[in-house]
Amino acid sequence: KKGNYDHFMQKEIHEQPHSLTTTMRGRLRDGSVVLGGLKDNLKTIRHSRRIIFVGCGTSYNAALAARPFLEELSGIPVTMELASDLLDRQGPIYREDTAVFVSQSGETADTLLALEYALKSGALCVGITNTVGSTLARKTHCGVHINAGCEIGVASTKAYTSQIVVITMMALAIGADSLSTQSRRESIINTLPGLPEKVSEVLKLDGEMKDLAESLMEMQSLLVFGRGYNYATALEGALKVKEVALMHSEGMLAGEMKHGPLALVDETLPIIVIATRDACFSQQQSVIQQLYARNGRLIVMCSKGDAASVCPGGSCRTIEVPRVADCLQPVINIIPLQLLAYHLTVLRGFDVDQPRNLAKSVTTQ
Ligand code: UD1
Ligand code: BG6
Repeated sequence: KKGNYDHFMQKEIHEQPHSLTTTMRGRLRDGSVVLGGLKDNLKTIRHSRRIIFVGCGTSYNAALAARPFLEELSGIPVTMELASDLLDRQGPIYREDTAVFVSQSGETADTLLALEYALKSGALCVGITNTVGSTLARKTHCGVHINAGCEIGVASTKAYTSQIVVITMMALAIGADSLSTQSRRESIINTLPGLPEKVSEVLKLDGEMKDLAESLMEMQSLLVFGRGYNYATALEGALKVKEVALMHSEGMLAGEMKHGPLALVDETLPIIVIATRDACFSQQQSVIQQLYARNGRLIVMCSKGDAASVCPGGSCRTIEVPRVADCLQPVINIIPLQLLAYHLTVLRGFDVDQPRNLAKSVTTQ
């Protein structure tokens, strides 16, 4: 079943051009997005006062990655909830809200309990899942299957990128009635079919990520700084490294760097800074300058062609990735980090597909 691959995680990382193709199949028609599972409820969603994303782990991170674009196209405030925290707080949900539950398995206990809780409030409950017939798919009012194909590795990879694409398509469908965003929507819809090819291109960094993993395998810790569309990439990249490679890793909002994390910086601690081209690029350039000034051990992820210019004095290691539309860049940027986590795990001698203490689907609280 693993074909030519040594592990399911490796197979699933390399499968992403295909899984993204199946996620989009039949859903892009005549320059617009058609999500069969949502079309009867788009009006209700457009009129909601707030959209609340609920999920755990990687599924939460996927929603976080797509959030800025959904806010932009819907004009509706979008808030984020980790399922367990929503339950712990019994946070208020109203019937004017739309609650969107994201779960690869559709069986995560905390997410399902949060769904039960939200259903009682009268809010429209939408599911985004990879599993047809799952409890989440059955109990939500409506939803979208991500159609990424069965995911076996405990650490989620291809489901993450498909979840981002589905939520991006959902944003395009919700915003479809707005004239003011029409050209923005068209430009994204036109680039979606080319995304799998860009994913194939970034997968060619496999060998480079193996080399990077060799240089990092003895480290105690790894930080990842991102912001904007790629704040989620920082969280998800760090989650991959900690869950499979069993190395301490933290994803951080670069805008918070001066409020604590900067104290950790020295010449030994490796820091990945995501600085691909988007509206946050100049802020990330100044973050790089500040880390450089403190002798940080920098690894910069940048857009193709920027390697020579992003590093002060050409001093740091770089990961050059193909450039895509800003809201889709998280799909590309996570892939080198998935590959890095994979190679770190193999080099450190840990179990890739069944990480210590973790389960694919956490069905108890
Ligand atoms: C559906 C068919 C697909 C077919 C296509 C043809 C299924 C599962 N999908 O896909 O095989 O090729 O029509 O037009 O039969 N739903 C929830 N909660 C969730 C996820 C989904 O309630 O968490 C509901 C949706 O609202 C919808 C149904 O499940 O009623 C199927 O969703 P989805 O597979 O995303 O719909 P289509 O893409 O239209
Ligand atoms: C578990 C998995 O912790 O549950 C993660 O190991 C996953 O990979 C998380 O992100 C949430 O799972 P699901 O199925 O609700 O997306």
